[in-house]
Amino acid sequence: MARVEPLPTVRFADGSVRIIDQTLLPSRYEIVSLATVALVCEAIRSLRVRGAPAIGIAGAYGILVALLEARTKSLRELCECLADATRRIGATRPTAVNLSWALDRMRSVWENATEGRAMVDALAHEADAILAEDLSMSAAMTSHGATLLRSADAVLTHCNTGGLATGGGGTALGAVFAAVGEGRRIHVFANETRPLLQGARLTAWECAQRGVPVTVLVEGAAASLLASGRVASVWVGADRIAANGDVANKVGTLGLAVLARRAGVPFYVVAPSSSIDTSRASGADIPIEHRPHDEVIRFGGVATAPEGIDAYNPAFDVTPAELIDAIVTERGVHRPPYHFARVG
Ligand code: MRU
Repeated sequence: MARVEPLPTVRFADGSVRIIDQTLLPSRYEIVSLATVALVCEAIRSLRVRGAPAIGIAGAYGILVALLEARTKSLRELCECLADATRRIGATRPTAVNLSWALDRMRSVWENATEGRAMVDALAHEADAILAEDLSMSAAMTSHGATLLRSADAVLTHCNTGGLATGGGGTALGAVFAAVGEGRRIHVFANETRPLLQGARLTAWECAQRGVPVTVLVEGAAASLLASGRVASVWVGADRIAANGDVANKVGTLGLAVLARRAGVPFYVVAPSSSIDTSRASGADIPIEHRPHDEVIRFGGVATAPEGIDAYNPAFDVTPAELIDAIVTERGVHRPPYHFARVG
């Protein structure tokens, strides 16, 4: 497999948001340019760019695209365009708080602007800061996470929590890569992650890119793998963490946490503080995205269930804090009971 250089995952160049089209991996590595707000929305909604921190960064740069699209207008008209773009981008995916968090940061810049021309630099500066902070939070949280890994450990992961899901540094899979970078031998078991296969397509691809041994399994095999005693720990990311430590993450995470507890295997969550939403007291308050039925009952354009059949397709579920042995952020390794409070 030819090695590619995927960093950073989301960039801004020549008036466009530039992303790796993750729907094409692992067959094709292609950078696409998103030069309109409509294209940014489509890319986030269809998971061309995905992963909580990555969609926050793409959304922030999407506001810059909106400004460039509306450049010639008066300050009042510009603000109306940016408000509309914020609403449209924010509506693409409701669960990952990083998206609304990034859009709120951009909003506080354009709402306080006193003239249109200075807005381009100010918004570019804020979006660049969101990307830079994400890279530095990844560096810190992955190195804290690596302290929980020993050489010869096998780990089980869910979804994709590597560089592709962030600005480039990753969350849970990033911690595994950090431990490997420190000289430890780690074997990754990657849950394939139905229905969109982020584990099989993206986690396995990132591991292969780095020469980290990886074994893909269907989610149904996770129970017997955990019961076999071969897995030292389970590692997942988060799309939103409530104040009490409940975690919304890719559907299937809850089942994995239950299985890990039953098998006595530690269950770790790695996420930046931009994924913590202190305004939600518990996971019951987190909005869960439901996606089109076709993702479940068709594959590669081929029907995998009778035509017209109903499907249940939540993109995320909520794992209660009591099943989580540690939540790792850029600030360190948090142990239960969790009480996340607003910082700054
Ligand atoms: O639907 P996706 O692929 O965007 O879901 C992503 C996840 O659930 C990740 O685990 C999560 O964003 C945390 S890793 C950065």
